[in-house]
Amino acid sequence: MRKPIIVGNWKMNLTVSAAKKLAGDIEGDYKSDWVEKVEAVVCPTYLQISGVAGVLSGQIGLGAQDLFWEKEDGAYTGEVSAIMLKELGCKYVIIGHSERREYLGETDEMVGKKSQAALAADLTPIICIGESKEQREAGQTNEFLEKQLLAAIENIDQADIVRVIIAYEPIWAIGSGDPASPEDAEEVASLIREALTDKYSQAEAQQCQILYGGSAKADNIAGFIGQDNIDGALVGGASLDAEEFVGMLANVAKKND
Ligand code: PGA
Repeated sequence: MRKPIIVGNWKMNLTVSAAKKLAGDIEGDYKSDWVEKVEAVVCPTYLQISGVAGVLSGQIGLGAQDLFWEKEDGAYTGEVSAIMLKELGCKYVIIGHSERREYLGETDEMVGKKSQAALAADLTPIICIGESKEQREAGQTNEFLEKQLLAAIENIDQADIVRVIIAYEPIWAIGSGDPASPEDAEEVASLIREALTDKYSQAEAQQCQILYGGSAKADNIAGFIGQDNIDGALVGGASLDAEEFVGMLANVAKKND
C-alpha cells in the first residue's frame, strides 16, 4: 500500500518570518494520529528552510523547490547543492516544476541531472511533468507526457526509481482554480505507472508515488485520492493557508482511515 502524500509548494511567497508563522500554524493544527495515514510536506524557499525547520517538530516533512546538479562545492553562483539541503533537514526536493521550465529554461536533461543529484544525496525527488492547454487540445497529452517522463528518468536505475515521486501537473490547471477532473488525472497517472512498469517492472512501478497538482484544495482532494493511481497532491495556492492545507490533510487522513 502506498501512503498518500500532500506536498505544499510555497513557491516565491512569504518573508522568513511569515513562513515561520505559517509553519507554526500548520504544526499547531496538525493531529499527530495523521502521521500513519498521510505524509505531509512543506517546501519553502531556500531562504526560509532553516527557519521553518526550527518550527517543525518532525511530523511534517521538509523539502526544497529546486537544487543544482553538481554534488561538490564549487563556482556555481546562486546555486544550492543537495548536501546543503540535507544539512538543514530537507528530505524532499521538487524538480522540473513547469514554472522553472517556462521562466528559467529548465530542460528535461537538467531535470534528469537534478533528480540524480537528489537521489545520490538521499533526497526524494518530486519530478514534475505536465502538458499545456494547446497540447491537450491537440490530443498530444499522452505522447508528450511519456516523452517528458522518460527523459527525466532516463538514467535512474531500478534500485532508485522506487524513491522517486512523479507529480502530474497539467499547466493549464496550475493556479487557475480549475483543476483537472479526477478521472482525467487518473488516466494520466495510470499511463505514468504503465510507463514505469515498462521501463522497470511492475514491482517498482507499484511502489512509486504519483501525485496530482493543479488547483488541488481541501474540498476536491478526496476525489483525487480516491483514484487507484493517485497517491496525493502537489499543492500551491492552498498550501499558503494553514486552515486549507490542514483541511486537506484531514480529508486525506479520513479517506485513509
Ligand atoms: P496550485 O499550484 O495548487 O496553486 O494550482 C500547484 C503547483 O504549481 O505545484
